[in-house]
Amino acid sequence: MNPRHFLDIDRLSGPELRSILDRSAAMKQARQGLPRGTPDPDRPLAGRLLAMIFDKPSTRTRVSFDVAMRQLGGETLLLHTGEMQLGRGETIADTARVLSRYVDAIMLRTGRQGALDELAEHASVPVINGLTNVSHPCQIMADIMTYEEHRGAIAGRRVAWVGDGNNVANSWIHASARLGFELRLGCPEELAPTKRVLGWAEKQGAQVSLSADPYHAVADSDLVVADVWVSMADDPGSKRHNVLAPYRVDGKLMAAAKPDALFMHCLPAHRGEEVTAEVLDGPQSVVWDEAENRLHAQKGILTWCLLRA
Ligand code: CP
Ligand code: NVA
Repeated sequence: MNPRHFLDIDRLSGPELRSILDRSAAMKQARQGLPRGTPDPDRPLAGRLLAMIFDKPSTRTRVSFDVAMRQLGGETLLLHTGEMQLGRGETIADTARVLSRYVDAIMLRTGRQGALDELAEHASVPVINGLTNVSHPCQIMADIMTYEEHRGAIAGRRVAWVGDGNNVANSWIHASARLGFELRLGCPEELAPTKRVLGWAEKQGAQVSLSADPYHAVADSDLVVADVWVSMADDPGSKRHNVLAPYRVDGKLMAAAKPDALFMHCLPAHRGEEVTAEVLDGPQSVVWDEAENRLHAQKGILTWCLLRA
């Protein structure tokens, strides 16, 4: 049987994503009141081992996957590419074949989507995308879960993405098509998502639109989402900051959204750059719930991959 990979939102169906989200919420509910260090009442991944390979830094992804595995009864191995033979030229395909003999699943964070695809092609165990230069699907699962916890079904709602049309934006585009909400992107022309992903959304009949005007994107939206101006894949430099300055989410821009609109950011955040402290730390912001839900969403993803649940 082929392993069940979690590589990108567009590679799963709406019902598959919905079943992961529902189980994530149920598992969160099931451990209400339990200390964080105790396992879930049901330990469905007892005896299972997840290898986590990081080619880039991480706080949330690394810790939430680790804690999720522990709470589900399993264990993790933390690997950094620079300390593996991968860093000395061993191929990804051979690494996939070898790790598949030791562990039950592999999570990879890498700058190259091609590396993730190659790993998945040659692994005989599930591979999970822990962020690439072009997508961040685990993050969007936590984001949708967070929206629905606060406001109910996301289908039919209007979400505004403001700033760089980056990897996280791409996963939001995928989710819009699969889960049936409107996505309005407000991005500078030179940092807009690629024609490829926008063309894919159009073919899917998704309600995704692009504008260079952040106020147009945010108008009457139920949720405003921002991300860093300089992603791990980008060269830092003042040019991006100059181009993105009009897209900073401040109180004035938030006021263009619906009065009860939420604000999300996958974090890490840079207060005063892509979002003001007033918004990030303000009453509409749900960023800490969003970060917590990475843990619960990982559980839905891990059990979907490993138990085919
Ligand atoms: N949001 C997110 O993926 O955070 P980390 O880079 O800390 O994992
Ligand atoms: N777009 C950001 C997300 C970090 C979680 C990056 O790729 O650095």
